[in-house]
Amino acid sequence: MAERVRVAVLISGRGSNLEALAEHKRKADPYYEIAIVASNVPEARGLVLARRFGLPTWSHSHKGMDRAEFDRMVDAELRRRDVEVIALAGYMRLLSAEFIRAWDGRILNIHPSLLPQYKGLDTHRRALLAGEDYAGCSVHLVTEELDSGPVLAQSRVRIEPRDDAETLAARVLAAEHELYPRALDEYCWILLSERDGRAGAIDVGT
Ligand code: GRF
Repeated sequence: MAERVRVAVLISGRGSNLEALAEHKRKADPYYEIAIVASNVPEARGLVLARRFGLPTWSHSHKGMDRAEFDRMVDAELRRRDVEVIALAGYMRLLSAEFIRAWDGRILNIHPSLLPQYKGLDTHRRALLAGEDYAGCSVHLVTEELDSGPVLAQSRVRIEPRDDAETLAARVLAAEHELYPRALDEYCWILLSERDGRAGAIDVGT
């Protein structure tokens, strides 16, 4: 199966998950290719990283724009690039219902908790306050309800007695960098298999 799924990575900030996805692409030749890195923050560090990898970028500030109107602009750009799947990677902006419906089942997100626990922000501090033994990260499909779509993959990280939100966040982030490329690769492989009518076939590689 030589074909690759064209993925748009949407970012707003430092872009360490984007870097992990691009690095994995370079080293392991997964079933995805990064067709575009798009951002609602033109000065996002992740865009600099994307260019270093030679990836096409697009950015436009959302400021002063209506949410649906901004999303229509993003949508048009992704379609222009023949994007098939969207990977949110620190995209700090809620998507409009219209956009989510248009890309139903084709938007993935990485979230820094073991969903369904700790949806939303400030996940590590909340997990520590609750006295959890484990934190972690989840890759899930995006639906209209925040952080509530089907979970595709998770990775657990043990909480150590001396952890604070910062030390825990660093270890969870390292786990994210392992998990997201693998989950996206598997998801794209399934898409390609279904397209080929090969669902359920075992891929022995080439
Ligand atoms: C990550 O912790 C991710 O789980 C969350 O936003 C953060 C993005 O970090 N959705 P980065 O921009 O990929 O470094």
